[in-house]
Amino acid sequence: MARLKLPSNSKVESGKTHRAPPGATNVRRFIVYRWAPDEGSNPRTDSFEVDLDECGPMVLDALIRIKNEVDSTLTFRRSCREGVCGSCSMNIDGVNSLACTTPIRAVKGAVKIFPLPHLPVVKDLVPDMKRFYAQYASIKPWMRAVTPPPPDRERLQSPEDRDRLDGLYECILCACCSTSCPSYWWNGDRYLGPAALLQAYRWISDSRDETSGERLDDLEDPFRLYRCHTIMNCTRACPKGLNPAKAIAEIKKMMVVRQL
Ligand code: SF4
Ligand code: SF4
Ligand code: FES
Repeated sequence: MARLKLPSNSKVESGKTHRAPPGATNVRRFIVYRWAPDEGSNPRTDSFEVDLDECGPMVLDALIRIKNEVDSTLTFRRSCREGVCGSCSMNIDGVNSLACTTPIRAVKGAVKIFPLPHLPVVKDLVPDMKRFYAQYASIKPWMRAVTPPPPDRERLQSPEDRDRLDGLYECILCACCSTSCPSYWWNGDRYLGPAALLQAYRWISDSRDETSGERLDDLEDPFRLYRCHTIMNCTRACPKGLNPAKAIAEIKKMMVVRQL
């Protein structure tokens, strides 16, 4: 029988505890993953007690408060605080989510915060997204046309054709879906994953793009597309309510239809 054991330097240890200020009455504990490669020590989880009466309602508000008031070395990505930029994605209470749109009150008990799973960690809650972005770039996420544009106006699209992009263009590339997909965990070097495939379908579906055949050719591969086994974790994880599993199924259907 296979015996799987973590190398000793990857075990997550218990770290520091930071108590709430005296007199705080509405206290919630946040257990946060910490790791800094230049410290040479094991990853750890630090515990921070936060007075919710002094903090905004979202998990990101608590992280910002911790960074500002308790430990300025805590590292995480964020920008818009509105669920638009996709940079604050992390694993909160076991679910890949955006910290800025996850209310603290939606989590029962201590709030456990880890980086997105199955990506290398740069520091604390910051995962290395290089491969994810390279996969996105590989689907050529821009309009490609062969015919020259009209001389006097942009390339137009009917309202009906534009409607076909709904549910696709809203993707904010947060990677919550891809990093919740078991096929991507095990074959992320060769399987494109749900985020890149949803984007591929977005451009295949665009009536102004004239390279659908070429785009499908690029995906016709046992790994890039067909590692999706319709497990649906991706769709459950998407904080924007998109359906990458359906987009993947539509691409697979197009692959079949073009053989007929
Ligand atoms: S449906 Fe496909 S892409 Fe989505 S989680 Fe399952 S295997 Fe991954
Ligand atoms: S499909 Fe949803 S979960 Fe996946 S990257 Fe786009 S917005 Fe994030
Ligand atoms: S900070 Fe932009 S999506 Fe959360």
